[in-house]
Amino acid sequence: MSRNGTRTTARPGRTSADAPTGAPVAPGRVPLAGHAPRLHRDALRFVREQRHHGPVTKIYIGPRPVHVVNSGELVRDLLTAQARAFDKGAMFDALRVPLGDGLITAAGDRHLRHRRTMQPAFHHDRIARYARVMSERSLACAAAWEPGTPRDLVPEIHRLTLDILLRTLFADPQDPELRTAVKGWLGVKYRSMRLALSPLHAWAERLPLLPGWRPPDAGPLRRLVAVQHRIIGAYRADGRDRGDLLSMLLLAGGPENALTDTEVTDELITLFLAGTGTVSASLAWALYEISRRPGVQRLLHDELDTVLAGRPPAFEDVPALVRTRQVLTETLRLHPPSWLLMRRAVRPVTLGGVRLAPGAEVFFSPYALHHDPQLYEDPEHFAPDRWPLHAATKPPRHTYLPFGAGSRLCIGEDFAWTELILAVAAFTARRRLEPVASTPVRTLVGTVLRPDRLPLTAHARPS
Ligand code: HEM
Repeated sequence: MSRNGTRTTARPGRTSADAPTGAPVAPGRVPLAGHAPRLHRDALRFVREQRHHGPVTKIYIGPRPVHVVNSGELVRDLLTAQARAFDKGAMFDALRVPLGDGLITAAGDRHLRHRRTMQPAFHHDRIARYARVMSERSLACAAAWEPGTPRDLVPEIHRLTLDILLRTLFADPQDPELRTAVKGWLGVKYRSMRLALSPLHAWAERLPLLPGWRPPDAGPLRRLVAVQHRIIGAYRADGRDRGDLLSMLLLAGGPENALTDTEVTDELITLFLAGTGTVSASLAWALYEISRRPGVQRLLHDELDTVLAGRPPAFEDVPALVRTRQVLTETLRLHPPSWLLMRRAVRPVTLGGVRLAPGAEVFFSPYALHHDPQLYEDPEHFAPDRWPLHAATKPPRHTYLPFGAGSRLCIGEDFAWTELILAVAAFTARRRLEPVASTPVRTLVGTVLRPDRLPLTAHARPS
């Protein structure tokens, strides 16, 4: 156990003397649906319980077998040492309908080339530019919240994070066609992502005429792509760097490795997907936890009063807002938005003594690891103090995985930290947040973990 309450002992995987075997099938499988009813009834409990059945277990989503990796050591193996033996898997194949083939779904050399080309768009000096938008928009959203008036912050936060992303991607985000096309596409995206995880999808692959099965509508994606092509055309025509992410995507790679228009649209759409739901869920959970803990909120206020001294939060303040980061680190442990991640073996590979054939699907759950009592003392308890205040040492990558790890580590991690720190500062510096006691908050388990609502009252603080 480390001083700050994160445990350091690893659960054993396979010893070298063991011969590779099959994984045990998890209890609770039923005909046709497999483990899907359990997963749908209480997915978080289901993934947490897997560790009791072995470091690698096997479950069935309808007819599709999936291996579940339950030990931090083996997840590290999967994401780093053995990473080249895996691509993203069947669920991500299904996501190509609403997403195209951007960084999240791309495999092999395409992924490597796009990742290298896109990296500069997420460099420190670019994030400093985006930070102005993050701070301004968060302050405007917080200022519109009348003190003393209870409000459900979930829709506000959702609009805020989409607005921030649009304004960082496009210097002119007010294009009305763009906003309408994004809205239409978001609706289909959510439906397709739910379908990708459903047993219906697994059966539909085998029985294409399955009654009740309707593939996601590709129309909204086509419309969004058309609008983006028009905008890209205008950017290419003058070749200017407008300081936004789109300029970076177009300029990156130089003449030899530049992305084509179609590749750029795929990446823009991927960023809409990856950079909105995750950030809004994290911000909502952070404000939820802060509002329920007067002691934590007092420490945040002390920090914000000292560091900001009444100024709006800016990029330069981010390193000094150590308590804010600590609270967010714990929020992302307790409520990791990406609670379930997936891979698929592309060649024969052995993981924790279990032999996986090419095509074998693999799940692992950052949520299950973050709630494992062998890794975290009292894991259900929100305790920012378990993390060092001055984080020269980062949380261990194999047991703390809100942003994944290895070559598929979230490219937007620094973007997200900056946005979250500035937004929490904007919402709390001048306000004291209080939950509306009569309204319980439930966790919605979809492609991200998010609160179903966040009814809070803000009280003005003396300046
Ligand atoms: C709190 C916020 C966020 C969380 C929790 C989060 C989480 C993750 C995770 C877990 C992965 C890895 C998925 C895997 O291994 O299968 C990932 C990948 C990715 N994220 Fe994020 N993300 C966040 C914010 C963002 C933002 C703001 C952006 C962009 C603006 C972004 C863009 C991406 C992209 C493009 C990938 C794919 C990277 C690759 O495969 O090379 N994310 N994210």
